[in-house]
Amino acid sequence: MVPKVAVIFFIGLILCHRPNAHHHGPWSPPYERRRCAFGNNCWPDHATWTAFNDSISGRLVRSFPSAARCHEAQYDEQLCQIVRDNWDNSFWRTNQTGAYSAILWELGNDRCFINSSVSAPCGQGLVPYYSVAAQEVSDIQAAVRFANYKDLYLVVKNTGHSHLGRSSGKNALSIWTHNLKGKQWHDSFVPVGAPRDTQGQGAVTLQAGEQWLDVYEAAAEQGVIVVGGNARTVGTSGGYVTGGGHSAWANKYGLATDNLLEVTIVTATGDHEILNTFTDPGYFYAVRGGGGSAWGVIISVTYKTHPNPSHLQLGLVQFNATGSSAVRTVQSAVMKSLVDITSAGYTGYGVFDQGFSGIFIQPNGTNETFVEAFAPFYQLSTYPNVSAVIGNFTLPSWIDYCDAFLTDPNIGTNIQDASRLLTADILLNKTDDLIDMISDFPDAPSGFNFIGKVNPTNRANTAVNSVWDFSHALLSFGIDWADDEPAHVKTERKQRLVEISRRFDAVIGPDGGTYINEANPYEPEWQRVFWGDKYETLLKIKHRVDPTNLFVCNRCVGTDIIFEP
Ligand SMILES: Cc1cc2nc3c(=O)[nH]c(=O)nc-3n(C[C@H](O)[C@H](O)[C@H](O)COP(=O)(O)OP(=O)(O)OC[C@H]3O[C@@H](n4cnc5c(N)ncnc54)[C@H](O)[C@@H]3O)c2cc1C
Ligand SMILES: *[C@@H]1O[C@H](CO)[C@@H](O)[C@H](O)[C@H]1NC(C)=O
Ligand SMILES: *[C@@H]1O[C@H](CO)[C@@H](O)[C@H](O)[C@H]1NC(C)=O
Ligand SMILES: *[C@@H]1O[C@H](CO)[C@@H](O)[C@H](O)[C@H]1NC(C)=O
Ligand SMILES: *[C@@H]1O[C@H](CO)[C@@H](O)[C@H](O)[C@H]1NC(C)=O
Ligand SMILES: *[C@@H]1O[C@H](CO)[C@@H](O)[C@H](O)[C@H]1NC(C)=O
Ligand SMILES: *[C@@H]1O[C@H](CO)[C@@H](O)[C@H](O)[C@H]1NC(C)=O
Ligand SMILES: *[C@@H]1O[C@H](CO)[C@@H](O)[C@H](O)[C@H]1NC(C)=O
Ligand SMILES: *[C@@H]1O[C@H](CO)[C@@H](O)[C@H](O)[C@H]1NC(C)=O
Ligand SMILES: *[C@@H]1O[C@H](CO)[C@@H](O)[C@H](O)[C@H]1NC(C)=O
Repeated sequence: MVPKVAVIFFIGLILCHRPNAHHHGPWSPPYERRRCAFGNNCWPDHATWTAFNDSISGRLVRSFPSAARCHEAQYDEQLCQIVRDNWDNSFWRTNQTGAYSAILWELGNDRCFINSSVSAPCGQGLVPYYSVAAQEVSDIQAAVRFANYKDLYLVVKNTGHSHLGRSSGKNALSIWTHNLKGKQWHDSFVPVGAPRDTQGQGAVTLQAGEQWLDVYEAAAEQGVIVVGGNARTVGTSGGYVTGGGHSAWANKYGLATDNLLEVTIVTATGDHEILNTFTDPGYFYAVRGGGGSAWGVIISVTYKTHPNPSHLQLGLVQFNATGSSAVRTVQSAVMKSLVDITSAGYTGYGVFDQGFSGIFIQPNGTNETFVEAFAPFYQLSTYPNVSAVIGNFTLPSWIDYCDAFLTDPNIGTNIQDASRLLTADILLNKTDDLIDMISDFPDAPSGFNFIGKVNPTNRANTAVNSVWDFSHALLSFGIDWADDEPAHVKTERKQRLVEISRRFDAVIGPDGGTYINEANPYEPEWQRVFWGDKYETLLKIKHRVDPTNLFVCNRCVGTDIIFEP
């Protein structure tokens, strides 16, 4: 519904400046890897790559930006036409090895477009040089061991949806998990290593490449729901769940990661391990909210399932305001009303446009809860210079909601955002400061990527920022630019995001935090803002499970890869 994000640009590639170091045994950090990329002297030679390709059944592919087929070296008119037809199609983009949802994270400051001439340049941008198009776990184990041994710059790509460029890697080796499909439904799942008397529960095991709409369709056939996002092509088993995962179910069932019972993961040593609260509580904690690909390559995740709701109740609101005082009135009333509306069980999404437009959802909601929760909105609709529509309706099931409302917005744009989770105190007591902020950044449209009071009951053994326990909404400011803007304009736009983050700090203070999956890619004090006081614990776990720091991504725990504006 709202400005979705992401993008970038230059990575200071680490030069081959130190001799190969030990790859085994405990290291006192910081351990400095060379992270060899294509073009560096330490990049393996052709024969070595060929031998590696043979060892993974020929599944190594040279990956290119999505419009490469429209330009000289790779030119093919028919294939180029497919690219033109599908440029903003999220199903097509997530099917491609080298395509990313936000063009910035694909091209950086390079150019490779569908509307330029065949002879126009097509740079490699931030697209990994080689990708392992994995079909089985052993492909991933081999890739991890090869990258570790050869000291390669390694990234993990699933859908390429990351708002922070975490699945991009200029001239890197990528492990591409998209083709690992599979769903296994369980009536009575018991995690490995659980005490004998542990009660089984309904669950589903999803392989690494599964995407939400496919799972929603299969769940509807099973007569259950799985706690997943408001999106069709977001991955079920990668960045979404390692970052937390908000959804329409959050008020009742918590974040997606709160619903995780078990994961299997290929570790930095290339071993395939089962993680849950019984086998390795610390490692499992880190995967649940610790973010990105810092912890290994997840092969499968097992989520609890839940009963179908008897129905879903929706509220749609739109307030158009004329004149700046009416705009402020709308913004203020909306912010203040979010505390009660989320406490009543509604989740939602909304944008501050000519006033405010939003959608609110409550599984099993009633007309009574609606009348009570939406009372401030009815009041707002009577204000002068405010034109309002407030609608309610009922849908029989989640899959009907998916058919009617799920879209994957902003695909093929350069949108990135800066955000904070807002507590009741901030929404009620800092309302004017937030509204001043909105009017001071007119070039950055604002809205809520998520509205909801998230059930914290099963949050204890997770690494998500504690601010989630007390927040009612995620406020985001989006920055975008035309693809053909010169580099200095892109840099200025990125610096604008940094200004927004600093302003958030000024308004909210040092206790403020955000949702790591929908955060500023250039967040200055990212450790504090992403994880608060959990960062130190996470860093210790990182040193234990990945002592040589193989798995890195932009602003991930323990990383030395930091994208600058
Ligand atoms: C259209 C759209 C809608 C969205 N809607 C929601 C929403 O409703 N709720 C919500 O919470 N978020 C939402 N998001 C944000 C989403 O959670 C993030 O973009 C998330 O990072 C996507 O994860 P991915 O695995 O699909 O993407 P990728 O970009 O492929 O991966 C993201 C990160 O996860 C890592 N990763 C991927 N797979 C693995 C793996 N198997 N093992 C280890 N690491 C892995 C990558 O290395 C990278 O660091 C939305 C994003 C988009 C673009
Ligand atoms: C890997 O091997 C397969 C099968 O032989 C081949 O088609 C593919 O082009 C090779 N990959 C690279 C990058 O050379
Ligand atoms: C994506 O790939 C799947 C599986 O190969 C295919 O069924 C689907 O049509 C593709 N989607 C697009 C838009 O290319
Ligand atoms: C909704 O009601 C159904 C039927 O009474 C029940 O099984 C389900 O648990 C409820 N779901 C939620 C999210 O409240
Ligand atoms: C209503 O809008 C008009 C025109 O923009 C403006 O002059 C007037 O001050 C506004 N009134 C209020 C109460 O905002
Ligand atoms: C709310 O009331 C309307 C009109 O009376 C009715 O059609 C609808 O089913 C009710 N919704 C719920 C969730 O009870
Ligand atoms: C608000 O404005 C938009 C665009 O101008 C219009 O489509 C919509 O109907 C208006 N809504 C209301 C409630 O006035
Ligand atoms: C919900 O909408 C229906 C019309 O679709 C209307 O009859 C009913 O009064 C509305 N209920 C509330 C609580 O607004
Ligand atoms: C708002 O601030 C007042 C005064 O500092 C405080 O008493 C109150 O608890 C705050 N509101 C919330 C919801 O925290
Ligand atoms: C080409 O498309 C890009 C968007 O992808 C746009 O920014 C640019 O202006 C277009 N150029 C031309 C010549 O149409």
